[in-house]
Amino acid sequence: KTVYILNGPNLNLLGKRQPDIYGHETLQDVEVACSKLVEAAGLSLRFLQSNAEHQLIDWIHEAREGACGLIINPAAYTHTSIAILDALNACDIPVFEVHISNVHKREEFRHQSYVSMRADGVIAGCGTQGYELALSRLIRLLG
Ligand code: DQA
Repeated sequence: KTVYILNGPNLNLLGKRQPDIYGHETLQDVEVACSKLVEAAGLSLRFLQSNAEHQLIDWIHEAREGACGLIINPAAYTHTSIAILDALNACDIPVFEVHISNVHKREEFRHQSYVSMRADGVIAGCGTQGYELALSRLIRLLG
């Protein structure tokens, strides 16, 4: 059984980009922490990042076929992408949405999330730990 963790645009710069908002941990640090949790649960992990909307959609289609759950930080596409919402609506697996920052405390345009219309749960403002929190919820659900 495989868990997909998808990351949207600019998250490749995590740790370097606006560290006051997103912290100093890199996406690779996040991947290491998530791998440990996933392996301990006897599952396997596909941890992916893309700056391209179509690539994220192709991975959601892949997850639809073979994953037991999906965690996504769609980054700025959260607030714009009906196409990502549609792709997630075509999936029957549990879906969790993660934001490193508390989007509700930030600019008005970050308050709207298309992905939240499909997500089974949303974690925002818990830093990169949000990925681990979403994972532990997913693992409990799959339990
Ligand atoms: C983000 C919040 C988004 O509004 C922003 O565009 C990002 C990252 C977060 O993890 O806090 O790129 O999804």
